[in-house]
Amino acid sequence: MCCAPPCGHSRLRVADVNEEGLLAAEADELERAAEAALRPRRLSEFVGQRVVRDQLSLVLEAAIARRRPPDHVLLAGPPGLGKTTLAMIVASEVGAALRLTSGPAIAHPGDLAAILSGLQEHDVLFIDEIHRLARPAEEMLYLAMEDFRVDIVVGKGAGATAIPLSLPPFTVVGATTRAGLLPAPLRDRFGFTGHMDFYETADLEKVLARSSRLLGIELSGDAAHEIASRSRGTPRIANRLLRRVQDWAQVRGEGVADLAAAEAALRVFEVDPRGLDRLDRAVLRALCERFGGGPVGLTSVAMAVGEEPETVETVAEPFLLREGFLARTPRGRIATELAWRHLGLTPPAAGTLFD
Ligand SMILES: Nc1ncnc2c1ncn2[C@@H]1O[C@H](COP(=O)(O)OP(=O)(O)O)[C@@H](O)[C@H]1O
Ligand SMILES: [Mg+2]
Repeated sequence: MCCAPPCGHSRLRVADVNEEGLLAAEADELERAAEAALRPRRLSEFVGQRVVRDQLSLVLEAAIARRRPPDHVLLAGPPGLGKTTLAMIVASEVGAALRLTSGPAIAHPGDLAAILSGLQEHDVLFIDEIHRLARPAEEMLYLAMEDFRVDIVVGKGAGATAIPLSLPPFTVVGATTRAGLLPAPLRDRFGFTGHMDFYETADLEKVLARSSRLLGIELSGDAAHEIASRSRGTPRIANRLLRRVQDWAQVRGEGVADLAAAEAALRVFEVDPRGLDRLDRAVLRALCERFGGGPVGLTSVAMAVGEEPETVETVAEPFLLREGFLARTPRGRIATELAWRHLGLTPPAAGTLFD
């Protein structure tokens, strides 16, 4: 991007305009910029995730003491928990440059070879959505991670030769929402895997307190608690809801994010008292009303709510599972009694549920 949004120097196509008349890609860009502004830069500013934070600080301190790049790090967990933030923190804590790419951006092994051969000593290479890396690129990555070497293939067919190119020592930080999809050989190349879990409400309150200072909005303690408890254990959601509460406070309220402003804004944006949003409720509603509570396959649920199966599986399901609204069985997804009651529906009579 050429300058901070909204800069007007958009190179987007009209086809990207969505129903609200906003350019979808531009809205994404704004969202990313708002998020970037709230990202902690150091490990000491990173709230919660004590286990992962302790593990990472040990790995980083040891690397600094040895004057070696840290071991490769894999970060696994649902979206919005701080994987990208931690990758950036790894680079800044060891004073290294960060290079960013993602699994889907690497279509051919040649793309990866170009990135790898451009690495400088001690660089941190962040590969987001690493589970979506294509197989041939994945194999090239094994070699690069283990031996700091890449084989550049020259020519085609029988005449093709591989020219080995040695790489300077560097660190891969991989992020995945689907650790289970990562092939074992790739998983084994990481010296350390941080499993990120949903945040406690108290930790999200700390995230909100910090964000409100950065956004310059007065946030009351009870409002912070209310927003935190409806944020699905996810800092990205907490920060996003805080910005909507700020909008409400500035446009409809007194400019202060108090409990009344928080409740009103959350009502406008259809975040219910348990923190379920439209997608969560659509999934539960489809399960209960269209499929009689299940069991039903992921693809059918996704089609019923008009989303990609991967979105339903990585965005909605982890939280619904954790909160006991949904269960996964070998035969498919089922809505629990809690889900029926949450939607104001009567669950099927005891004993018939899940038959
Ligand atoms: N532990 C944390 N403390 C403070 N803010 C956080 C924390 N984790 C995530 N965030 C905020 O949440 C947002 C999403 O984090 P991000 O690292 O992009 O998540 P992920 O890459 O796991 O999807 C960022 O704006 C970041 O500032
Ligand atoms: Mg990310």
